[in-house]
Amino acid sequence: MGGSRLRSREWYEGPDNAPHRVYLRAIGFTDEDFKRPLAAVVASWSEAGPCNYNTLELAQLVKEGARSSGLSALTVPTLVVNDGINMGTPGMRYSLVSRDLIADTIEAQVASHGFDAWVGIGGCDKTQPGIMMAMARLDLPSVYLYAGSAEPGMLESSRVTVQEPFEAVGAYRRGRIGLERLRLVELNAMPTVGTCQGLFTANTMAILSEALGLAPLGSSTPPAVSSERAREARRAGGLLARVIEAGITPRRVLTWDAFYNAAVTLAATSGSTNAVLHLLAIAREAGVKFTLEDIDEASRKTPVIAALKPAGPYTMVDLHAAGGAPVVLRKLLDRGLLRPEALTVEGEEIGSLLKKWSPKPRVEGVVYDFDKPYKPTSGVRILKGSLAPRGAVMKVGAAGRTYFRGEARVFDSEEEAYKAVAEGSVRDGEVVVIRYMGPKGAPGMPEMLKVTAAIVGAGLGETVALVTDGRFSGATRGIMVGHVSPEAYVGGPIALVEAGDTILVDGERGKIELEVDSSELEERRARWRPVEKPVGGLLAKYRALVSQADEGAVTRA
Ligand code: FES
Repeated sequence: MGGSRLRSREWYEGPDNAPHRVYLRAIGFTDEDFKRPLAAVVASWSEAGPCNYNTLELAQLVKEGARSSGLSALTVPTLVVNDGINMGTPGMRYSLVSRDLIADTIEAQVASHGFDAWVGIGGCDKTQPGIMMAMARLDLPSVYLYAGSAEPGMLESSRVTVQEPFEAVGAYRRGRIGLERLRLVELNAMPTVGTCQGLFTANTMAILSEALGLAPLGSSTPPAVSSERAREARRAGGLLARVIEAGITPRRVLTWDAFYNAAVTLAATSGSTNAVLHLLAIAREAGVKFTLEDIDEASRKTPVIAALKPAGPYTMVDLHAAGGAPVVLRKLLDRGLLRPEALTVEGEEIGSLLKKWSPKPRVEGVVYDFDKPYKPTSGVRILKGSLAPRGAVMKVGAAGRTYFRGEARVFDSEEEAYKAVAEGSVRDGEVVVIRYMGPKGAPGMPEMLKVTAAIVGAGLGETVALVTDGRFSGATRGIMVGHVSPEAYVGGPIALVEAGDTILVDGERGKIELEVDSSELEERRARWRPVEKPVGGLLAKYRALVSQADEGAVTRA
């Protein structure tokens, strides 16, 4: 298989490479093992949280699949930063930083050990785009495998997920619920290991891995704790041998069409706004010119057909019971919204693969038809205007409100904003501005779930808007505008906003305006001074290298 094309030959074949072979003989390799293509199984593994807890077990199963298909396979790890645990803490600054670090560590391991191909297993929010960025960067035969979602909990007759505890804190702080209720939510929110259960960032990226063609069709929705997840792991290992044989590399899969397919899927499922950032970043690694405008175009023509949290009541396991991501993709295909000719890792075009796919839905009501969509328009809008000349990403509120005009309340940190919401000083009609939270400013563009959940918990989800150069969690609800570019730290117009200014957000027209005279703005700009926010170590390196959000906030030399 693969013969002389294999890069592992350069490391392990012939008399000169005897010293290299010594190291793998020490872990049990035989002559037979050296003759086979050498695969890495990259497990983003950590016990510090449930999202990637099972990846070492999955890696064993991937190796079984790979070995029984004629490969040698070895597990190597990469790191995990758990977004949920870090939410609202200084640790959140490391979340987006970890995405690029994960891509870098995979590059270092896969490129340096003579691997011919690899399977990447991702769970939490940043491990997934980090792995996909490395796939695009290395361009070696590779398959993406998701670690799987956790099961939702049940409280009374409702499904609960990790979203509820965040909102319950807001409700408790406002005196709307007691400590006992808060504890009940805490104890029931996550009954198994796996990723956060709604269509938050992790599950969004998992579904998009199928839409991009990097993961086998149907592989994203089986729960973390299930026999199907184990079968998907073996399938991914077996598939890798075919991918090597067929010479399918990620850049053949990651065309503009593939990214467009991901963007319409994001819109149809009302997935996390973080996916916008990650798609731009993966596209940059793949050398594909895919832009915010392309995402906007895809989003505007695509109604929402999946009723998944936070936009709807259902979770990833419900989508699985309804037939999985291919049900959504097939509806997009039939509606003419999917580019059918995009190649997938399975060696076939996505259109023909979907036509052969026979879903076995066990429940109804999770995925709607385009003729009667769950919501008529997608939940993601790209905005531009005097407040964000290079773009911003809007998350439309649950009630579908896309227009908001109100007075600015300005905060230079999430903590100050959270305190104001918790104390009840934020009122209907206000626009909460949280700045210096961008890629360079924070640095690391933290998510604002703590404060957005507090807004929803306080009952202000449809009457207060939030604008920030930071990001949102996939679990965020409400009228939210993030990824404002350029960010405040580099002197973007968001740095010039003052309390009481009027801000207009118009999702339909794609506008975000700071309604202040240009002469007044010029005066403010002349007075503005860069804000000192000293950091060291990794964060300092990141700040020096990171680009703005409209470019995917990728690090570059
Ligand atoms: Fe890891 Fe949500 S915190 S998937």
